[in-house]
Amino acid sequence: MCGIVGYVGSRQAAPIMLEGLKRLEYRGYDSAGIVVCSDEGLTLCKTKGYVDHLNEMVCNGDALTGSVGLGHTRWATHGRPSDENAHPHLSDGGKIAVVHNGIIENYAQLREMLAAKGVTFKSETDTEVAVNLISYFYEGDLLKAVSEAALRMEGSYALGILCEDCPDTVVAVRKESPLILGIGEGENFLASDVTALIRHTRDVIYLEDGEIATLTKGEVKVYSRDLVEVKKKTTHIDWDISAAEKGGYEHFMFKEIMEQPEAIRKTITPRLRGGRVVLDGIDFSPEYIKGLRKIYIVGCGSAYLVGVVAKYNMEKMLRIPVETALASEFRYASPLVGEDTLVICISQSGETADTIAAMREARRLGAKVLSIVNVMGSTIANESDYCVYTWAGPEIAVATTKAYSTQLAVTYLLTLYFAERLGIISDESYSELVAALQMLPEKVEEILKNKEHIQYLASLYFNKDNIFFIGRNIDYALTLEASLKLKEISYIHSDAYAAGELKHGTISLIEDGTLVIAMASYVQLLEKTVSNIVEVRSRGAEILTLTTQSAEEQISHVSDNVITIPDAHEMILPSLAVVPMQLFAYYVALSRGCSIDKPRNLAKSVTVE
Ligand code: F6R
Repeated sequence: MCGIVGYVGSRQAAPIMLEGLKRLEYRGYDSAGIVVCSDEGLTLCKTKGYVDHLNEMVCNGDALTGSVGLGHTRWATHGRPSDENAHPHLSDGGKIAVVHNGIIENYAQLREMLAAKGVTFKSETDTEVAVNLISYFYEGDLLKAVSEAALRMEGSYALGILCEDCPDTVVAVRKESPLILGIGEGENFLASDVTALIRHTRDVIYLEDGEIATLTKGEVKVYSRDLVEVKKKTTHIDWDISAAEKGGYEHFMFKEIMEQPEAIRKTITPRLRGGRVVLDGIDFSPEYIKGLRKIYIVGCGSAYLVGVVAKYNMEKMLRIPVETALASEFRYASPLVGEDTLVICISQSGETADTIAAMREARRLGAKVLSIVNVMGSTIANESDYCVYTWAGPEIAVATTKAYSTQLAVTYLLTLYFAERLGIISDESYSELVAALQMLPEKVEEILKNKEHIQYLASLYFNKDNIFFIGRNIDYALTLEASLKLKEISYIHSDAYAAGELKHGTISLIEDGTLVIAMASYVQLLEKTVSNIVEVRSRGAEILTLTTQSAEEQISHVSDNVITIPDAHEMILPSLAVVPMQLFAYYVALSRGCSIDKPRNLAKSVTVE
C-alpha cells in the first residue's frame, strides 16, 4: 500500500527520499513521486511506474534542489495508476503539496463543495481533494488549516504536507493509516514505516489517531486534534538494518523462509521459563477463562489462516468453542461478542485496516482483545487490551512466511497457557509439549536442509494450470495456507479442499494429470486421507503427498512423489508441514519467472478497506 517519506534538514532532500521510497517498495505500489520545497517554491516530479524510473527522471535526486521534501509510492485506490493520479498532489494554484496514504470516504461531497467554490481538479484522486481542502482553510497558518481540514475528512489518512510559505516545515497528520516520525540530529524524518528511515535514525515517535505534527530541522512538535501540544515518547528501534536487507539472497521471501528457525526461537524461548509458559503482561484469571463462552480469532489472509489452525488445537485441548472470522466479514456481521468473549486479533503489520476495525468493534461490544502482532508500536498492538509480539523481525516479502510461523508459535504458547490456567492438562503432557516447542526450531532447520528436493518437485510441476490441495483437520487448515501461498506468488490457480468433502462436488474437477497435493501429516486420520488420495488417483490425478517420516512408507504406495517432515507432537506439526509448502510455492514461482517479493496487484500492508 502507499508509502510516505519526508525529510527536513540541511542535506539535499531528494536522494534521501528516493532511497526511502526504494525501501518502501515492498509495500506494493504502481506509481511514485517526490516534491521538494526551497526558497524558490515547490518542485515536483511524479510518474506511473517504479521508483527506478523516478530516480532517472530526477538524476538520482540531483535535479531537485532543496532540503525539505516529501516522497510517495502510490497503490491506486481512487483513479487508475497514471502520472496525473500519482502523488504528490498540488493545491489549485500550487501553493501546497500533499502525499497521502488511505481513503477519504467523503471525498465526493468535499470535491463538489470545493468545485462549487471554483477549485479546479487535475486528477481523479481523493488526495487532490485533501490538498485543496487544506488550501481552502489556509490563511497563513498551515497547522490550523490542516487541523480544520482533518475535522472534515472522513475515512483514513496519513498525510505529509508542504507549503511554499513555510519552506522549512513539514506538517503531518494521521487517522487510521500508519505514520511515524524519525528524530535525527539537525534533521527529522517522516515515514510510513521504520524501514524507510532506519538508515538515518533509530529514534522514532509513533503518531496516534488524530495527532498532527510539525517537523523542522531542529524540532518536532506533536499536537492533539484541537491543537494542544502533547508530549510524546520516543521509541528506540533496536533491530539490525541487515534484517531489512537481502543479505546475499535473491529474494526476501527465500531469506525469510530460511530465517524461520531463528524467528521461531526468538518468539518461543523467552516465553519458556523454568519449563513453564510465561507471557509477560498477560494474566487471565482461571475464572475469566472458565467464563468464556467463546474465543474468536480474527485476521485477514494468512493471519486469518493461522487462526484456522489454532482453532483445531485450542478446541481440542481447551474444550472452549473457538470461531475464526475474516476481519472484513466480522466487522459488519453484528458478531455475537460481549464480555464473555475473548477476541484474538492476528496481524503481522498491526496496521491492516479491516483487522483494526474488527478489533475496535470487538472492544466496543465489551470483549477483551488480545493481539498477536509483529510490528512494535503499530495500531493493533497499541489499542488491543493485551499484545503478544511475534519476534520475527521485519518481514519484507509480500507473501508472509516467518510471520505466519511465529504467529502459529504464539498460538501454541497461548493454548498451553490457557490449559495450565484451567488446570486441564497433566504435568506430563505439559512438559511433553514444552519440550516439543523447544525442539521446534531444530526440526524446521532439518526441513530446510532438504530444500533441494522441494526444488526438484517444483521443477516437475511448475507448468501446471491448476493445482488442488486436500487434507483433513489441521492438514486442511494448512492446505488453505499452502494454496494461498502458491496462487499469490506463482499465479497458478489452486484450491484447497477438506479431503472428505471432495466427493460432494469438487471431485468432478479431477482429470488426467491434475496435480493433487495431499497434506497428510495428521497421522490420526491417515487412513481416511489415503482413501481420498486413492479416489482422486483412480480418476487420473498425479499425487504429491506431504507426510511424516514414520508414515512415508504407507503413503508412498499411493503417491507419485512424497515430501516428508520429521515426526513431532501433533500440536506443532503445522509449523513443520507449512515449510515445504512455502518452499514449493517459492520454487514454482521462481521457475515461472514471477515477481516473487512483489506479486502483481498485491500490497504488503493493506491499510485501506
Ligand atoms: C499472504 C499475506 C496476507 C497477509 C494479510 C494480513 O501471504 O501475507 O494474506 O497475511 O494481508 O496482513 P497482516 O498480517 O499484516 O494483518
